[in-house]
Amino acid sequence: MYKPPKQVKIVEVSPRDGLQNEKQVVDLATKLELIERLGHSGIKNIEITGFVSPKWVPQLSDSSLLCEQLHRHQDINYSALVPNLKGMKLAIAGNIKEVAVFTAASESFTQKNINCTIEESLERFKPVVSLAKQNNITVRGYVSCVLGCPYEGEINPSKVAEVTQKLFQLGCYEVSLGDTIGTGTPLKAQKMLKACTEISDIDALALHFHNTYGQALANIYACLELGARIIDTSVAGLGGCPYAKGASGNIATEDVVYMLDGMGIETGIDLAQLIKTGNWISQKLNKSNSSQVGNALD
Ligand code: HMG
Ligand code: MG
Repeated sequence: MYKPPKQVKIVEVSPRDGLQNEKQVVDLATKLELIERLGHSGIKNIEITGFVSPKWVPQLSDSSLLCEQLHRHQDINYSALVPNLKGMKLAIAGNIKEVAVFTAASESFTQKNINCTIEESLERFKPVVSLAKQNNITVRGYVSCVLGCPYEGEINPSKVAEVTQKLFQLGCYEVSLGDTIGTGTPLKAQKMLKACTEISDIDALALHFHNTYGQALANIYACLELGARIIDTSVAGLGGCPYAKGASGNIATEDVVYMLDGMGIETGIDLAQLIKTGNWISQKLNKSNSSQVGNALD
């Protein structure tokens, strides 16, 4: 009989993964308010922005300014995505204490996303991680396309495990497994996670599932059964990926918290507050809320 874990760590990625994909560039005040509201609802890990090339992702070009104006709370871990040394230096200047580097289990996706091969991306991260360590900054890793690639189709779980292992060897403390295009299904997700647990403790692996095909909750549940305890989510299901055609948002934080609440698993998050935030940001962006729980309990 499946015994759920007592607690799950939620990593909220909407200010970065969500807003990077908005057609309109969201104004700084709204971004700052979103982060503040997310913290207020009890979220303790928030990926607030990315220090990426403004030519590639103009939506996040205010990252330094955002860090300057951010109202920080002691008990919240504010992290940021960095693709290279330039981004790392900006993150240090922005007083960021955790960064995330990112690569993929697919060559063609890596090429489109960060303009290099997987191996080159890992090489590029070496000085990034070493500079982070010198500055007492922790490093998280992302692997994209773990359950399918928009250009290559099926991805072998052993390839995901191989790239994941390389990120740990580089010095990442946690690796987030991204179903970037949301094509995964529960048994595939389990197979992929199992392959990764052959090279890592499950407590260092996070689930980052997009909900394009409505499979994310089922995939998360299947992985919880294997002992997964870290889940990336995005309020109102904001997001997608600019380099993955058709990729919709991450699974909505509200939907995951509702499921976990119902299973008696603690997240420390106040669902009612979270729903208000999801509805507020959806209105601000003038789009419909992609959280089913947010819509049902509005
Ligand atoms: P590049 O064009 O090959 O870089 O981009 P470059 O080194 O040749 O530099 C070109 C220009 O960009 C230069 O400026 C650099 O200074 C500038 P110029 O001299 O022409 O005026 N530049 C930068 N500016 C600010 N910050 C920087 C930076 N780096 C270079 N950090 C690069 C290579 C990696 C920079 C680029 O491809 C890039 O930024 N890509 C970001 C792509 C991205 O953000 N994708 C989305 C995130 S990944 C994702 O969403 C998936 C995830 O959620 C997990 C999942 O769902 O699977 C994590
Ligand atoms: Mg993502």
